[in-house]
Amino acid sequence: MKYNKIIDPIVKGLLKFLDKDSGYTLNIHQDIRSENLAFQHISFDVEDNFKFPNNSMWITGRNLIDYDPKVIELILNPELQYIDVGAGIGEFIPRLVRTFDSRLIHKPIIIEPADYELMLDMLDYSKRFLNERALSDRVNELIDRINIILNSNKVTLINKSLENAVKEQELLGIADVIIDNAGASHYANDFKYIWDLEKKLLKPNGILLSEVVKSSGVYYPNSS
Ligand SMILES: C[S@@+](CC[C@H](N)C(=O)[O-])C[C@H]1O[C@@H](n2cnc3c(N)ncnc32)[C@H](O)[C@@H]1O
Repeated sequence: MKYNKIIDPIVKGLLKFLDKDSGYTLNIHQDIRSENLAFQHISFDVEDNFKFPNNSMWITGRNLIDYDPKVIELILNPELQYIDVGAGIGEFIPRLVRTFDSRLIHKPIIIEPADYELMLDMLDYSKRFLNERALSDRVNELIDRINIILNSNKVTLINKSLENAVKEQELLGIADVIIDNAGASHYANDFKYIWDLEKKLLKPNGILLSEVVKSSGVYYPNSS
């Protein structure tokens, strides 16, 4: 078998595919009624290799409707430069491309270290084990999003962490809108430091949309 197929002994209906070499695990909740939100049905975990603080990273693919309200309320404008930091397989940038396609003046930018080629292959591999139409449809949707993200005619993928991406001078001061939806700031020890890095990518009047929920409260870039 290309990937190790594991039936989770604890969580009912949880099917996992593990790529031993990279530590990527694809999690598929076959009993989708027990998981309320679509982004929880299918997601990836990465152990060890990213060296993130918790030594494990959850890579999700939210539908736009599950993003922070400020992102949902955005009126998308094909003339603006958008950057999504920690995009995962989220719908935001694919939605932009699907909506405006060649009318986009600036290619949207994704800053994300995840291995999209591997995730694409694992999703494709998993399809032969799925019986439920709703799950296959979801896998196909995520595959389609990754194909958009990997299409360099449509999206500029900076396949590295934000901390490494800001070292590239050409990214500084170019963004009208930055989205960090449960992305880099969510996983950082110091989310304000991450916001400071993200602000370096903004034009002077650009906006940064992010929300960090901690036990001490909910934080936003402009009010922190
Ligand atoms: C929970 S997922 C969120 C994905 C998507 N934004 C969504 O809302 O479903 C977190 C993502 O942030 C990315 N990430 C975490 N730390 C990052 C960093 N320092 N720089 C860039 N991306 C990061 C991870 O690789 C992961 O794909």
